[in-house]
Amino acid sequence: MKKKILITGAKGFFGTRFIQRYQHEFDILGLDVEQLDITDKPEVDSTFAQFKPDYVIHAAAIAVTDFCNKHPDVAHKVNVGGAINVANACKAQGAKLVFISTEQIFNGNPEAGPYTEQDTPVPDTVYGQNKLEAEHELKSILDEMWVLRFTWLFGLPERHTSINPNVLWNAMQALTNGEVMQERRNEFRGLTYVHELIEQFPKIFTIPYGTYHTGAHNPASRYDIAEHILSELGQTARLAELLEANDAPKTRDVRLDTSKLAAQGVTFTESKLAISKCLREFHFIK
Ligand SMILES: NC(=O)c1ccc[n+]([C@@H]2O[C@H](COP(=O)([O-])OP(=O)(O)OC[C@H]3O[C@@H](n4cnc5c(N)ncnc54)[C@H](OP(=O)(O)O)[C@@H]3O)[C@@H](O)[C@H]2O)c1
Repeated sequence: MKKKILITGAKGFFGTRFIQRYQHEFDILGLDVEQLDITDKPEVDSTFAQFKPDYVIHAAAIAVTDFCNKHPDVAHKVNVGGAINVANACKAQGAKLVFISTEQIFNGNPEAGPYTEQDTPVPDTVYGQNKLEAEHELKSILDEMWVLRFTWLFGLPERHTSINPNVLWNAMQALTNGEVMQERRNEFRGLTYVHELIEQFPKIFTIPYGTYHTGAHNPASRYDIAEHILSELGQTARLAELLEANDAPKTRDVRLDTSKLAAQGVTFTESKLAISKCLREFHFIK
């Protein structure tokens, strides 16, 4: 019999692609806020009791940093309260949980990344604070859980999927709209191709429970990445016209050290190469 996966945030950037990829391999119940508001504990309990998932991927969240900062109560209710409801329902049904956290829990750290799982996160946004609080709360509820702290995901629009701002799509939109890209030479983040990450899930379900920094290694700055994308798209001669450096007063480095996950055999293509891979898969380049 197929294993059952319940995924929250099913209409999101990650969820839509995950469901398309695994709809034939797993028995998947994908739910977004219209079908199941994760802040509604009785509904969460009864939905989980009915479906009896083997695995739960908790991808629902309010992940827009500005919105969370402006509406901290709403953000907390969904990002922390909702996650607690999901974890309690997993416990009641004996389901194993993947909780998706974020690199943004390190946004306020005074020291630069790459951060390991041993480093103490200092979040400085409501979103980052919510995710870190949820991590702590969930660990006290459930042992059978993987906490995956994702780096920033990227991908391109596809039929029947949703798209979020991301480094590759933002660059392609700027190019299409004739906008000059303003990028920082002193900002460093891991950038992970969403499909590469999704491909790893069957393996992730077999690794020891725990917290893992998840995604691609990226030595390049945001500016270098933008330059790479434009060059790949045949715009090398127009770089000076299309791209401007817009450095921040302070270097931002929220990269994650992913060696703990790599030791379990879960590895990712370095960000620049992964961007090229994505462009090839979508037939923008050969
Ligand atoms: N994408 C990234 O680069 C990235 C990086 C690090 C971590 N993450 C985490 O990975 C997960 C998936 O990210 P994503 O990019 O797919 O996010 P997304 O596109 O924003 O999807 C999240 C989904 O959750 C839904 N949701 C919001 N409130 C809900 C509620 N009360 N009940 C049920 N569903 C609710 C959202 O609906 P609405 O759109 O209607 O609000 C949205 O469809 C999130 O937990 C995010 O924090 C993402």
